[in-house]
Amino acid sequence: MRQAFRSSILHCLSDPGEASQRSAYEYFEDGLLIVDNGTVAQAGSAESLLPGLAEDVLLTELPGKLIVPGFIDCHVHFPQLDIIASYGEQLLDWLHRYAYPVEARFSDPDYAHEVATVFVDELLNNGTTTALVFGTVHPHSADAIFEAAAARDMRLIAGKVLMDCNCPDELKDDADSAYADSKALIERWHGQGRLGYAITPRFALTSTDAQLAAAGKLAREYPEVWIHTHLAENTVEVEQIARQFPSSRSYLDVYDQFGLLRERSVFAHCLHMDDRDRDCMASKGGAAAFCPTSNLFLGSGLLDLSAMRAANVRCGLGTDVGGGTSLSLLKTASDAYKVLHLQDHALPATRALYLATLGAAEALYLEDKVGNFLPGKEADFVVLDPEGSRLTARRTSAAETIEEALFALITLADDRHIAATFVRGTAQKSSSFAYVK
Ligand code: GUN
Ligand code: ZN
Repeated sequence: MRQAFRSSILHCLSDPGEASQRSAYEYFEDGLLIVDNGTVAQAGSAESLLPGLAEDVLLTELPGKLIVPGFIDCHVHFPQLDIIASYGEQLLDWLHRYAYPVEARFSDPDYAHEVATVFVDELLNNGTTTALVFGTVHPHSADAIFEAAAARDMRLIAGKVLMDCNCPDELKDDADSAYADSKALIERWHGQGRLGYAITPRFALTSTDAQLAAAGKLAREYPEVWIHTHLAENTVEVEQIARQFPSSRSYLDVYDQFGLLRERSVFAHCLHMDDRDRDCMASKGGAAAFCPTSNLFLGSGLLDLSAMRAANVRCGLGTDVGGGTSLSLLKTASDAYKVLHLQDHALPATRALYLATLGAAEALYLEDKVGNFLPGKEADFVVLDPEGSRLTARRTSAAETIEEALFALITLADDRHIAATFVRGTAQKSSSFAYVK
């Protein structure tokens, strides 16, 4: 099936940087996105592409809207959906007071399936088409999220959590079961359609050396799967890591020593680390998930994005719900702007878009599949509605450039501004559009 969508279109070709470099993105005010069987055939100006459009192409006119690539969430916990916005603690107390109790409820597979379904629908409601997702320690939590994603044809990477110390007994696995259960899940899910598996040690504090070694062994046996964990989020956590792993130079070094730092390793937070760590992460191909709503909400700290990018670390945005306060990557980008502003750094709207799309795709090593509208990519995209609220309608109509309008939208938007979310060319969220041809 051939489809075409006529609308304003904006996508990134590379990182626009702090100066919003113009050659790093393409904007077509009156654009056309041509989709062939769920794959991008072409994106360009309507003026240049409409005359050559075949008669049988289904054309959808979206006047006043803005099409951007589907958003990519580089770090989120689906089991924590029901404890989002819980009051008053920093990381380690928050885990014990809120996160572990709700994760214990996932011993019930029915609850796991119910939350997984609501979660993926909320991702789509917010324009997110790809995500890297934590489960719980229970293997069936991974089954639940993979089944929900597969039913919606979403590109999703997830894994069962590994944790065998410093946590409630009911949430503990052990080195052997973590290895065997993860291996079985990799065999069942990795590479099935758009699904991928991530070996998911929660963080170094909740794994014994034996378990981290088992995770590293699995990583060596399956070089194509992802590794997903937390790194250097909170200063008290970092101090405890130094005590638990006295022979490691740094927190990152713990993961490195166990073979867990490589291409497709994704580390959430990365707040409290030095240049040597950044260089090491970049040279080994690891990536950082920047989770500003979580870092502010849990009082964890401010990411030095400039230092990360100067060291050439791959970086994408993560919502980190339930430590994070929204599944919206627009809201996450808005908080990213504030975090950088506090450090006297810029985050132009185009770079924010990059971090939520192509930059995130690069962090996940998926840039050959998603992240922008180059021909051959999977046609995951969002139809943004600048008139999704009265205030944004006023503010964006007064904007003189697309950069100004996008910045206002990022700052003010919520799920009302996601008019539609398309996954491989099929609407998974939509208001009704008129097909004109
Ligand atoms: N570190 C270890 N576990 C977690 C978690 O569930 N959330 C966050 N934000 N940090 C963590
Ligand atoms: Zn997290």
